[in-house]
Amino acid sequence: MASDPAPWLYGFWYPALRSDRVHVRAMATAMLLGIPLVLGRKRTGEAFALRDSCPHRGIPLSYGQFDGEQVQCSYHGWCFEARSGQCREIPSLTPDTKLKIDRIYASAFPCEEKDGFFWVYIPESAVSSAGGQTQLPPELPPVPRVPAFSKKYVLTHLTADLPCSVDHGIIGLMDPAHGPFVHQSWWWRSKHSIHEKQKHFEPIPDGFRMSAHAPSSNSAPYKLMRMAGVNAKPGDRVETTIDFVLPNLRVESVRYGEGWFSTLTSVTPITATHCRIDVRAAWNIFRWATPLVLPIGRYFGKKFIRQDQLTMEQQAEGLKHNPNLMLIDDADRPAKWYFALKQALLDSRRSGEPMKHPMSEPVVLKWRS
Ligand code: FES
Ligand SMILES: [Fe+2]
Repeated sequence: MASDPAPWLYGFWYPALRSDRVHVRAMATAMLLGIPLVLGRKRTGEAFALRDSCPHRGIPLSYGQFDGEQVQCSYHGWCFEARSGQCREIPSLTPDTKLKIDRIYASAFPCEEKDGFFWVYIPESAVSSAGGQTQLPPELPPVPRVPAFSKKYVLTHLTADLPCSVDHGIIGLMDPAHGPFVHQSWWWRSKHSIHEKQKHFEPIPDGFRMSAHAPSSNSAPYKLMRMAGVNAKPGDRVETTIDFVLPNLRVESVRYGEGWFSTLTSVTPITATHCRIDVRAAWNIFRWATPLVLPIGRYFGKKFIRQDQLTMEQQAEGLKHNPNLMLIDDADRPAKWYFALKQALLDSRRSGEPMKHPMSEPVVLKWRS
């Protein structure tokens, strides 16, 4: 396994930034897959994302003005409709101009606001086209959502920047063996709680699933779900499913009776050497105690993510020197599947053949953690 950055996966939705960073009539900036973006919400509430670069002379559009409908460049005042990027006005033109301004576009990306984030679709064509109208496939995939199993629920998010390539961020996300070392604490677990585990995995489209299982009895979700016991019937079991799906998503849900807790975690490439982890957590248990549960949950969630972030910061020191690395069985098998899935997707796009899933059948993995 080499430590240099692998190619990014285009043709997917990525979360650009949190909804609360975008204010009325203001523009916000973000970067995805090395592409600088300017984002905002139109007067109608629709989200938009443009490449933060004027197609005239490349100055960031974010230095300009936004009136709730159009973005005006700060340099020569060209105006662009925010969602399509179509040019609507060039102030320097005289009435007898032959220039067809409606053929000029600032690069626009599909943008949707979901679960508290601005999600942006980064198409294959974004690799080459730095300007002009963005080429999109006829149909876009749906925006990834945090799984919800009832109408009413609590939703919160946590975010942390990681100073590593997206691949290291992702294999860190799916790594089962670091728990007892990185996440040891009185409220979670100690190094001595390490014990053998056996988990069932199965292939799913574009990813793999840790099959429905009762979470380990010493884990916090298990204890919480049993305590909540929302309309649980005798014989109901606490069931957890964890999916990984390309390009960068971990989807977990824990259910017991009508009670549920779920997370959607993504690790998003920002530049070749930086990525960001975003966690959205949703639940319908203890809703009556939200004013108490939410701050406590966020406090521990932040500590937990900070432990991962600190580890990645330390790892980045080592990776600077381009070391040779290794992946071992069985604890690193999910990481191997991730690299194989990514390669299979890139191969299938290159060849036009259907994607060959690297897992042909369900697999049992064993490790100590
Ligand atoms: S650079 Fe934007 S209008 Fe000229
Ligand atoms: Fe972790």
